[in-house]
Amino acid sequence: MTLQLAIVLPTLNERANLGPMVERLDAALAGIAWEAIIVDDNSPDGTSDEARALSLADPRVRVIQRIGRRGLASAAIEGMLATAAPLVAVMDADHQHDPELLPQMVAALDSGDYDIAVASRFAEGASTEAWNRPDRVKASGIANAIARKLTGVQLSDPMSGYFMLRAETLRADAHRLSGVGFKILLDILATVDAPLRVKELPLKFAARAAGESKLDRTIVFEFLVGLYDRWLGRIIPTRFALFGTIGALGVIVHMAVLAVFLQIFGGSLKGQLVTAFELGQTVAATVAMTFNFVLNNALTYSDKRLSGFVPLLRGWAKFALTCSVGLTANVGVAAILVRFGVHEYPAAITGIIVGSVWNFALSSRFVWGRY
Ligand code: GDD
Ligand code: MN
Repeated sequence: MTLQLAIVLPTLNERANLGPMVERLDAALAGIAWEAIIVDDNSPDGTSDEARALSLADPRVRVIQRIGRRGLASAAIEGMLATAAPLVAVMDADHQHDPELLPQMVAALDSGDYDIAVASRFAEGASTEAWNRPDRVKASGIANAIARKLTGVQLSDPMSGYFMLRAETLRADAHRLSGVGFKILLDILATVDAPLRVKELPLKFAARAAGESKLDRTIVFEFLVGLYDRWLGRIIPTRFALFGTIGALGVIVHMAVLAVFLQIFGGSLKGQLVTAFELGQTVAATVAMTFNFVLNNALTYSDKRLSGFVPLLRGWAKFALTCSVGLTANVGVAAILVRFGVHEYPAAITGIIVGSVWNFALSSRFVWGRY
């Protein structure tokens, strides 16, 4: 029987869920030639090892282990591109998505009446009670409403992580997908040229089996970043916008630290080798730079985040080095402009932009660019 369907399971610490998941797929997909592609972002719990063990026992299970990468959407895209199956599905590995819907999705696509089948948590007949997360249900409702407004996609659950489409539909536009964040379905729907005919299937969204949600803490942030990426990302790249915004916050931190420092030590260092201002400026710059490093590591480069004491310390030192060169470039450019008669403020802004671009370009390579 030739391969019909690939089920892509993005995973981050889902070791205990995989074995039972494969069993459920096997039971639900009797009569369909399928393979499962587990796309694991090098989970510390050894999910990739478990996936390989399952693959040895059943070659329909395949593994992609990504090193130094993070992100649900990009994992889903890479998984869907790694199969020869004409149909591809994306599904959570934590048993919140019922595999019993897969044959119905196959039937909808095989009928030729639809281009994509989506399991919806909010369609007629669906339910989210078992999820037991009224906060997330509410947040999803708001996010879905915003998404519908902005993209014109009329779907009850454009944030769903459970859907199936023809692989060729995806491949045709894969190079234009953003791959940022978690909202892969919305991204596909909003990117393709010809609108897709959607079949919605009501989903009884279950509670997660083992482990905990990876999206709980970052979902609002990722949603906003995803929106930005889609609408302005082509003009000012998303990462640079984040980097710049954090840099601007760093300026506020700098001024606050400096003010506090002068408040406390302003009078006490009179007549010393270094003035209170010089010392305060140094302390403030160090604090602000550390603040920027921590935030960029957590947000701008969340997909390449450094962790562990030594990598963090090394990253911080490299970031400090990068920024000090950036500062020199900043001051140098501004000084030359002023000498050529440019007014101080536009000269200062130009210096800041040159310095930021430098910091961004270099740190993205040398601090977070190991891979
Ligand atoms: N490879 C990879 N990389 N997999 C990831 C990552 C990542 O960075 N983040 C999450 N996953 C995997 C999880 O292991 C799980 O199999 C699936 O993606 C969904 O992640 P959860 O952490 O279980 O998400 P959730 O249950 O909180 O969120 C649900 O609602 C979202 C929309 O509100 C899911 O159904 C999501 O798919 C959905 O987009
Ligand atoms: Mn989940």
